[in-house]
Amino acid sequence: MNSEVIDSIAALRRRLLPARASGRVIGFVPTMGALHRGHLRLVEEARKQCNVVVASIFVNPIQFNQTEDYALYPRTLDHDVQQCSAAGVHIVFAPGTTEMYPSPLSTFVEVPSVSEHLCGAFRPGHFRGVATVVMKLFQIVQPDYAYFGEKDAQQLAVIRRMVRDLDVPVAIVPVPTVREADGLALSSRNQRLTPEDRRVAPMLFRALEIAQTEGRESALAYLATEPRFRVEYLEAVDPDEMQPVDPAHRPVRFTIAAWLGPVRLIDNVLAV
Ligand code: PAJ
Repeated sequence: MNSEVIDSIAALRRRLLPARASGRVIGFVPTMGALHRGHLRLVEEARKQCNVVVASIFVNPIQFNQTEDYALYPRTLDHDVQQCSAAGVHIVFAPGTTEMYPSPLSTFVEVPSVSEHLCGAFRPGHFRGVATVVMKLFQIVQPDYAYFGEKDAQQLAVIRRMVRDLDVPVAIVPVPTVREADGLALSSRNQRLTPEDRRVAPMLFRALEIAQTEGRESALAYLATEPRFRVEYLEAVDPDEMQPVDPAHRPVRFTIAAWLGPVRLIDNVLAV
C-alpha cells in the first residue's frame, strides 16, 4: 500500500471528514521526518488501535532555538514516504512552512511549569514551539489517539499537560524508547555523529543506569572519563511535573542531555 501524501490543510480536512463521520478511529503520529525505527514503532502502535493512521512530516521552525540546527536538520521526504508506505501509514501530511505559518503567529501555547527545567532551561522557547505546532496539528487532524515517544519525555509531559489543561479531545499514547543494540536511543540526530562520537555515544544510556544504581555523582564521574562529552544536565525528576525530586522517589525519571561535538543528545529511563 502506498501512503497518500497531502500537503494542504484544506485537502487533509476534506479527506478525513468522511472517515470521521463514518466512525473510523483516527490515529496520529507527528514527526519531523528523517524517520527511523523509533518513529515506526509509534506507527505500529497506531496501526493496532486505529483504522486510519496519519503521520505528519514537518520540520517546525518555531521549536528550533539555533538556526543552524534547523538548517542542518535532515530532510529526506521521499525516503520517509517509502517507509510510511511500508509501515502501513494511510496518509502522510507534509505541509510546507508557509502552509503551516502563512503569517507570523501571534498566538502561542505555553506550558510553563512542565517546561521550566531540563531541556526547557537550555532551549528557551523550544517547548512553546512544540506545544503550539502540536496544538495546530491536533486542530487540523482531530485524531482520536496521538502517539509520542518516551525518548522525548519532557515533550510527552508538556503535551499531556496541554491536552488536560485545554480539554483537547485526544488520547495521548506513550511509546517506549527504541534503542540500538548498544543502548543508544535512536534519534535523527545520530546521523550527524562522527564515527568516534558514535562509538562513545552509548555511554549516555549507561550513565543513566549508573545514576539509578549508584547515584548522580558516580554517573557524572563515569561520563567525565570521556572528554568528548559536554554534559548539560543529569537529573532525577517527577515524570509528570518534570520538576527535580529525590532520586529515591517513585516513579522517577532519570534524564540526561549532553553534547558530542556539535550534536546534542538526550535520553532518559523511568524507575517505578
Ligand atoms: P521527532 O523528533 O521527529 O519525533 C517524532 C516522535 O518520535 C516523537 O514523539 C519522539 O518522541 C518519537 N521518537 C523519536 N525517537 C524515538 C525513539 N528512539 N524511540 C521511540 N520514539 C521515538 O518530536 C518531534 O519530532 C517534534 O517535536 C514534534 C512532536 C513532531 C513537533 O514538531
